[in-house]
Amino acid sequence: MTEKYESPFSSFLWGTATSAHQIEGNNRFNDWWEWEQSGRLKHASGVACDHYRLFRQDIELISKLGHNAYRFSVEWSRIEPEENIWNEVALAYYGDILRELKSRHIEPIVTLHHFTNPVWFMRKGGWLLPDAPALFARFVKKVVSVLGKDVRLWITINEPMIYLYFSYLLGDWPPGNHSFKDSIIVFKNLVRAHVHAYQVIHQIYESALQTQVWVSIAQHMTHMMPCRPNSIRDRLVVTLRRWFVNFLFLEAVQNGMLFFPGLFCEALPRKKSLDFIGINYYSRQFVRSKGWIGADMLGDMCSQDHHGKDICECNSLGWEIYPEGLYQVLKSLRKLKLPVLIAENGICTTDDEQRTRFIRDHVAAVHRAIRESVQVWGYLYWSLVDNFEWDKGFAPRFGIVEVDYQTQTRKVKSSAQELERSCRKLCHGNENHAG
Ligand code: FCB
Repeated sequence: MTEKYESPFSSFLWGTATSAHQIEGNNRFNDWWEWEQSGRLKHASGVACDHYRLFRQDIELISKLGHNAYRFSVEWSRIEPEENIWNEVALAYYGDILRELKSRHIEPIVTLHHFTNPVWFMRKGGWLLPDAPALFARFVKKVVSVLGKDVRLWITINEPMIYLYFSYLLGDWPPGNHSFKDSIIVFKNLVRAHVHAYQVIHQIYESALQTQVWVSIAQHMTHMMPCRPNSIRDRLVVTLRRWFVNFLFLEAVQNGMLFFPGLFCEALPRKKSLDFIGINYYSRQFVRSKGWIGADMLGDMCSQDHHGKDICECNSLGWEIYPEGLYQVLKSLRKLKLPVLIAENGICTTDDEQRTRFIRDHVAAVHRAIRESVQVWGYLYWSLVDNFEWDKGFAPRFGIVEVDYQTQTRKVKSSAQELERSCRKLCHGNENHAG
């Protein structure tokens, strides 16, 4: 069944996504830079894709590739390198990016927090600080006051649950915490930070800008399946894990309640702090039960060998390629009754034919979900260019544009044509969709 719905945009939004630290280069004042310099990793971001210098050329490329949307992040540590000291040059740089996009009719989707934090903020205590949400909101206020006139879509926090997991629970990312207790504090503060930022953004648009704005997070979503489909225990664990990984954050901000059974229940200052749902989808997991106490209730992820023939193709990081999972995840979001933006979906591979198939099949999955009345505003492929993939360095290749890191030259891969072909097909096959 096809259902008509109004989208505020003149067309289905499509293009790519990036983040500041992964492409700009020389983000010297953030915790990732410090982490890289400390020798904990085998590599450092350095000049990355030198996008800080080459942004005009990169945006021209985006335009040549036909994209009508682009998601990027502003770097908090560049804008506020010391507490409450604002770098006007950095703000002007992001203003230039927005002007370049506007002149080419490319819709910007701007992320305010994408894994990195200013060093001064982390020295004070980072996301464990009771006033972390207020410090983040002060930054948001500054950025939105200056850049807001050219932005209609904001993502406050990228993948809060992933950030929390790697930085505060597992300790693989800065600040390298490994504490369940701290993770709960950080979870609450990230939720509060989003709600606070949501309020600040809406206040600015209502009072000063008097235009419409849409605010969300980018929620990492995984499709999960029971290891043993006939096991009630595995099926129960999938339900719990799906709620925890995919929905805990979304439901907290929508219901206005910090809630975890047996652990906490606390009202937030407001409900409904999402205007749409941004999702990042990459893969699926098979899950099996482990136990019924504490974190064991979320089960274990099965190794792929264990599932052998059931596993489809994998990307070069070993993540399974499963387009059906994107369709399932989109359908699971219908209960929240909000439009969805696919803020990231991508593949790490050096085989560009594999990327081409990946894009074709995932955009087809989006189209199928739209035909079944899921409201999808757009699709952003991760990523525009090969870039700095956090603790994995420069080896993983996610881009539709190849980067020669020696010369910083860009070379468009043929999968870029598939992105255009598939998305244009989706736009045309779905004309009801455009508002
Ligand atoms: C996502 C991150 C993004 C990139 C891709 C591969 O989880 O948001 O920065 O690392 O994975």
